[in-house]
Amino acid sequence: MRAVDIIMAKREGRELSREELGFLINGFVAGTIPDYQVSAWAMAVFFRGMSPEETATLTELMLSSGGRMDLSGIPGPLVDKHSTGGVGDKTSLILAPLVASLGLRDPMMSGRALGHTGGTLDKLESIPGYRTGLSPAEFREILARDGFAMTGQTRDTVPADRLLYALRDVSATVESIPLITASILSKKKAEGAEALVLDVKYGSGAFMKDPAEAERLARSLVDTGAALGLRIIALLTNMDQPLGSMVGNFLEVEECYTCLDPALYDAARSADLMELTLELGARMLMLGGKAGNPEEGRRFCLEALAGGKPRELFLRNIESQGGDQKRFLAMLGTYRSPHRAEIPAREDGYISRIDARKIGQAGIGLGVGRNRSEDPVSPDVGLQLHKKAGALVQKGDPLMTAWGKDRESLKAAIPILEGAFEYAAAAPSPEKLVMKEIRYG
Ligand code: URA
Repeated sequence: MRAVDIIMAKREGRELSREELGFLINGFVAGTIPDYQVSAWAMAVFFRGMSPEETATLTELMLSSGGRMDLSGIPGPLVDKHSTGGVGDKTSLILAPLVASLGLRDPMMSGRALGHTGGTLDKLESIPGYRTGLSPAEFREILARDGFAMTGQTRDTVPADRLLYALRDVSATVESIPLITASILSKKKAEGAEALVLDVKYGSGAFMKDPAEAERLARSLVDTGAALGLRIIALLTNMDQPLGSMVGNFLEVEECYTCLDPALYDAARSADLMELTLELGARMLMLGGKAGNPEEGRRFCLEALAGGKPRELFLRNIESQGGDQKRFLAMLGTYRSPHRAEIPAREDGYISRIDARKIGQAGIGLGVGRNRSEDPVSPDVGLQLHKKAGALVQKGDPLMTAWGKDRESLKAAIPILEGAFEYAAAAPSPEKLVMKEIRYG
């Protein structure tokens, strides 16, 4: 078998066999097939696509390039959530303790901020002492005891994806639905989840801007996940404006904590974040056999939040993963960089749009996120939105507070942040947060 024939076959639009895909992926990981041939194949896939069977086979082959988390003996149901990423997208930090309080176990393996989108690991590490590099034994122990554990990928987690993603990033082949599907699902299978709720986002702050394209991705993820034995549902959700009111590392952890504490929850700030969390949580409970339908799932989530157990589990997890809950609680509302600026409204009128991508890009400069995976992030920087799309404002009203890693970063971010707000004379029609649910079959 020769790599060049496999590239040619895909270039002509032929479906590749398991043997051909295995030859390519195993050879790539072993270093016997060079990067340039794998890049050429990825570009052929980008243009020609893959059949559902090919996508499932690729996912299995990628999965078997590394180890899998051994969660045997841990009573399930093991249910996780994955988001395709957004700005202010922080539902994981609320969902994990919430569904754990209702009898699910969530083995959460997350990623870091890259580009304009945030990363769960960076957010958690803004809590002093919090460790996300758990050993497999620690991950098992914390998951079994607290009902959820939060960790990052190791070098052994789907090495084929690590290598292939790096190539796709520099060969303009990231935006291929079958390659994204195999990348996401191989990692989710490796972490040991039995069931998965996907939050597939569309809009300016999402990976896929176009809803139809995001729906195609959701369909591919659901069909491939089901073919691999996962119980799976996807929600197609709007990411045109940041979710909730905080964008940043500690700032987002803080907003999640306020959502878990009925005494601190502020609907004026976090209604959309809570709404999405309830929709996702309800589906996680359904897939885990704890709720019969979304309405029942939402009710269970609301009752659990009112009872305070999810908040307790969140604080317990901080201790379990090396953090100090007393210090964490003392930082709420105060842990902010000294470099601060207020962004006022430039016009009278309704805010018709807050461009999430611009906010995310400004966030990179402030120190929230990073452009290259090796860049550091700052824990105490970011943005607080005081107004969301649809609000009526007068020129000079405070729209946003920004905290930067230094004065220069703030100065550079201010024009981008100001440009993220658009105004209109009439109230804009509200965007639906959850556009569609996609199930298997
Ligand atoms: N996220 C992933 O994990 N993989 C992709 O290919 C794209 C987004």
